[in-house]
Amino acid sequence: MRTILLGAPGSGKGTQGDLVAKRFGFPRISTGDLLRLAVQQRTALGKAAEALMKQGLLVSDEIVEGLVRERISSPDCRSGYILDGFPRNLAQAHALEKMDGKRPEVVIGIEVPTPILVKRLSRRWVCPECQAVYNMNVQAPKDKGRCDACRSDLIQRDDDKPEVIRERIKVYQDQTEKLIRYYQKKSVYRPVNGEGTVKAIFQRMAGVLAAELAKLEENRVRP
Ligand code: AP5
Ligand code: MG
Repeated sequence: MRTILLGAPGSGKGTQGDLVAKRFGFPRISTGDLLRLAVQQRTALGKAAEALMKQGLLVSDEIVEGLVRERISSPDCRSGYILDGFPRNLAQAHALEKMDGKRPEVVIGIEVPTPILVKRLSRRWVCPECQAVYNMNVQAPKDKGRCDACRSDLIQRDDDKPEVIRERIKVYQDQTEKLIRYYQKKSVYRPVNGEGTVKAIFQRMAGVLAAELAKLEENRVRP
């Protein structure tokens, strides 16, 4: 099964995506992480993406579609995967269906009010090496400024500056939010309340996914 995490910047796609990936055993594919890695490695693709990302704008469909196509063709994606940050517009949603059309899918919409998004993002710190996500309010690292997992120095993302956060939320509202209607029409959209503790939200998300997987299993065994 393909799980798509849909939600505004700061809604918790990365945080919850990691937990869900561990619980259900599907790889999480974050186009943001793949792009940041390309920027860090100074590849041609990274150079093309960097300026747009710094401004909070979307990178070209062609670039992200290429990244996703390659990643989902890996053997670890055979039984399913979790997409975090893709698709982000209708063109990308159509491209995904062309890439892997027959796979059943569920779209979890993580719903969080805008003022909370801004607060979360302005207090976010991330690990540039293993991409772990922290928050000085609710998910602080054990040692200040150090990643719990790999001990690297934590950084703030370039696009977590207040003016870029505002632009990213605007881009989400202008381009990505349309996908909610699109997936509602396909009857695969499942909204989840993204307010509360990380643990409480995870329980809601895990409940939705477990129900979807059970439905799939039932259809498979039914004669
Ligand atoms: P991307 O990396 O995907 O960024 P985003 O969508 O803006 O989302 P974020 O990663 O900022 O937030 P999140 O929802 O993952 O929240 P998180 O779990 O970190 O994309 C970056 C850029 O890449 C784009 O702007 C674009 O340029 C480009 N790009 C990527 N995909 C693309 C595509 N498909 N097409 C074109 N361009 C693309 O949580 C946020 C913070 O909140 C953390 O500090 C966390 O600890 C904290 N937190 C989480 N849960 C809670 C909670 N319950 N309570 C309190 N705090 C919490
Ligand atoms: Mg993220």
